[in-house]
Amino acid sequence: MRRITILNPKGGSGKTTLATNLAAYYASRGFTTALMDFDPQASSSRWLKVRPATLAPIHGIAAYQNLPGVTRSYQLRVPPGTTRVVIDTPAAIEPHRFDEFTREAQAIVVPVLPSQIDIHACAKCIEHLLTSAKIKRREDRIAVVANRVRPNTLVFRSLMRFLETLDIPIMATFRESQNYIRSFELGLGLHEMRAERSLPDVEQWAPLVAWLESRGQAIGSGIEAAR
Ligand SMILES: Nc1ncnc2c1ncn2[C@@H]1O[C@H](COP(=O)(O)OP(=O)(O)OP(=O)(O)O)[C@@H](O)[C@H]1O
Ligand SMILES: [Mg+2]
Repeated sequence: MRRITILNPKGGSGKTTLATNLAAYYASRGFTTALMDFDPQASSSRWLKVRPATLAPIHGIAAYQNLPGVTRSYQLRVPPGTTRVVIDTPAAIEPHRFDEFTREAQAIVVPVLPSQIDIHACAKCIEHLLTSAKIKRREDRIAVVANRVRPNTLVFRSLMRFLETLDIPIMATFRESQNYIRSFELGLGLHEMRAERSLPDVEQWAPLVAWLESRGQAIGSGIEAAR
């Protein structure tokens, strides 16, 4: 089983967009997929509620709720046979909580928008992942995704320069696209839309999903060894 955590305390950076699209991608490729929603705003959970029953199922876990009378681990359990778990985290989480979301994850994806405020917030986020959550660079578990990008803008170039200084791989750049908004409303992932409409966006996901697939069990045991 692989766990992928989408994390960036900066609000609106694209966490839920990444989490829902990734979960839909895995489900549509035949993986038994769970989507864990830690955000009390419950955006991922709402997306899952409108997802058509005819599409590949995704098991939703409303992790933001604290159910009385059941243990936390029981509440967060995934169905037997689950092979992919995608974790959507809320905005404004404190660094001391990062470890809670990243501990068991083979990959941590940090979406960042091209703006000076977001660049600054992303730098802090990466710093806290490396310090508070004690993730080592050599584990190669963290990747950044530049989201809502308009290439050839000054701020985009500034974002890319900054990301290069971090020595954390930039696994994808997603353009600003109505397809994200439209598919979200319909409970779909990009990969489940009509190809003629979504192909330019789908192509931008290829390096990210390839990298995620390379974060296998071997990496998981590497994490244990590094502890
Ligand atoms: N590449 C994109 N193109 C167009 N719109 C996008 C893109 N990525 C995200 N959005 C839109 O930006 C808004 C914020 O995205 P999203 O909800 O995924 O961010 P978030 O990090 O989960 O926010 P929060 O911190 O509040 O949970 C949403 O309306 C979403 O549809
Ligand atoms: Mg969200």
